[in-house]
Amino acid sequence: MQPASVYEAIGGMETFDRIVAGFYAQVREDDLLGPMYPAEDWEGAEQRLKWFLVQYWGGPQTFSERRGHPRLRMRHAEFPIDLRAHDRWLELMSNSLEDIEEETLPPAYRAMLWDHMQRVAVMLINRPV
Ligand code: HEM
Repeated sequence: MQPASVYEAIGGMETFDRIVAGFYAQVREDDLLGPMYPAEDWEGAEQRLKWFLVQYWGGPQTFSERRGHPRLRMRHAEFPIDLRAHDRWLELMSNSLEDIEEETLPPAYRAMLWDHMQRVAVMLINRPV
């Protein structure tokens, strides 16, 4: 039987947990991105990104329930996102995706996740490059 969603096809919540955990472990240590994130709420930030990705790819709609409409451009307006920050975000996320073995995240699905992240990231640039 075909999986009902990308979310299911790549292992559901457990895989998204790993993607965001791997990403945030690097963000915490990052000189450029680290200071932008709320030092007192790393766990919350991790959850919000996970809810968003899970919802987008067909999993539980927790993001909408807890956060409402994504409005990502508006929610990122306070953070200085120039080309460097954009590149760094994608670099750290790419590292995290690379850490998930192919049996769990086959290349075609990885490419779908990656394409979406790239499209969102470029849309969030809000400072001159
Ligand atoms: C382009 C570089 C990016 C930077 C520098 C950046 C930075 C941030 C920061 C500092 C936060 C606040 C953390 C929090 O308290 O939740 C945040 C939130 C968030 N980001 Fe990004 N982000 C970037 C790209 C992205 C991309 C590509 C996505 C989606 C694929 C994304 C999705 C989110 C979501 C869903 C939230 C939580 C929104 C909320 O519920 O308030 N971000 N981001």
